[in-house]
Amino acid sequence: MLILGVETSCDETGLALYDAAAGRLLAHAVHSQAAMHEAYGGVVPELASRDHLRRLVPLTREVFARAERGIEELRTVAYTEGPGLAGALLAGAAFARGLAHALGLPAIGIHHLEGHLLSPLLSSRPPRFPFVALLVSGGHTQLMRVREVGRYELLGETQDDAAGEAFDKTAKLLGLGYPGGPALSKLAESGDPARHRLPRPMIASGDLEFSFSGLKTAVFTLVKNESRANRNLRPQDLARAFVDAVVDVLVAKCALAIERSGLTQLVVAGGVGANKQLRRALDERARTSGFDVFYPEPELCTDNGAMIAFAAALRLRAGKHQSGSGAGFTVRPRWDPAAPA
Ligand code: KG4
Ligand code: ZN
Repeated sequence: MLILGVETSCDETGLALYDAAAGRLLAHAVHSQAAMHEAYGGVVPELASRDHLRRLVPLTREVFARAERGIEELRTVAYTEGPGLAGALLAGAAFARGLAHALGLPAIGIHHLEGHLLSPLLSSRPPRFPFVALLVSGGHTQLMRVREVGRYELLGETQDDAAGEAFDKTAKLLGLGYPGGPALSKLAESGDPARHRLPRPMIASGDLEFSFSGLKTAVFTLVKNESRANRNLRPQDLARAFVDAVVDVLVAKCALAIERSGLTQLVVAGGVGANKQLRRALDERARTSGFDVFYPEPELCTDNGAMIAFAAALRLRAGKHQSGSGAGFTVRPRWDPAAPA
C-alpha cells in the first residue's frame, strides 16, 4: 500500500514514499529553495512556484529509485492542499492530481499543519493519543489538543508573528541571511546570557496566546540605544538574549497547556522544533514538571513530503479522508487548523 507524499506549501519541495501496510517510510527527498530566495531576504512566491514545477518530477523519480519500488506499485497520491502560498500549493496539487489521474489512483489533500502535528508519530519513540502539540514554524505558533487523527482543538496561538518569523526577522536584523533561524540559534550558543535581557511577551497573560512581533523591535531598540551610548555590541549576546526570551515563553506556555489539559505528553513540531535551546529547555521542564516530550526526527522537523504521506496513511486507516480523482480540484491557502478535513 504505497503512498506518495507531495509537499510544496512554501519553499521546500518534499517528496516521500510511505508503505502503509508495513508502517514504514521507504524514502524521502527534500529540495530547499532557501539559497534561491536568500538574495531577496524572503520567499518570492512566483519563484517558489516555478522552482517546485522544476523539482517535482526529478524528486519523484529519486524517491522511487531510493525505495527501489516501481510506480506501478503506487496506490495513493497525497499532497499538501493548504495552508500556504497559493501558487506553490497549486504546483504540487496539479502535479499530484495529474499523476493520480493518469494512473487511475485516488489523490488525498492534506492539511500542512496536520502533517507537522502527526510527524512525531513517525519517530522511533512515538507518543500516543491524546497529547498536547506545540506547532512552531515560520508561519504558525499554536498549541493544540490532539485527541486522535482528525480531532484537533486549538488551545492558543500567536496574535501576530510566528516564532519562526521572529527568528527570521531578528536574524535579518543581525545580518544573518534567510532563513535565519538556524544561524541565529547557532550564534546564540556562544552568547553571554547575562549581557542583555529582553522582555518575555505575554508570559504572564494567564492564557495560551503568544505575541512575538515586539521582540524584534526590542532587539532593534537595544541595538540603537547601545550604539548611541557607544557600547560594544556582540551579535552573539543579542542572539542569546533573543533565543532565551522566545524559549522562556514557549516553555512556560507549553507547561501551562499541559497543566490545564491534564495530559502528560507534549509533542513539538514545525521548523523551530529543531531548535537546540528549545529542546534543552523543554526536556528540563518536562523532567521537573513530570510530563514527556516528543519530537519528530530532526530531518522531519522542517517541511517534507514524509509527513504528508504519513498523515494520509493515518487518515486512510481511520476512514477519515476525502479523496478525489477527476480533473477539478482546489487548494486552500488559508485553512482553519481546527478543521483539517
Ligand atoms: O516548518 P517549517 O520548515 O516551514 C513552515 O511551515 O514555516 O519552518 C521554517 C521555520 C523558519 O522560520 C526557520 O527559521 C525556522 O523554522 N527554524 C529554526 C530552526 N530551524 C528552522 N528556528 C530556530 N532554530 C532552528 N534550529
Ligand atoms: Zn511547515
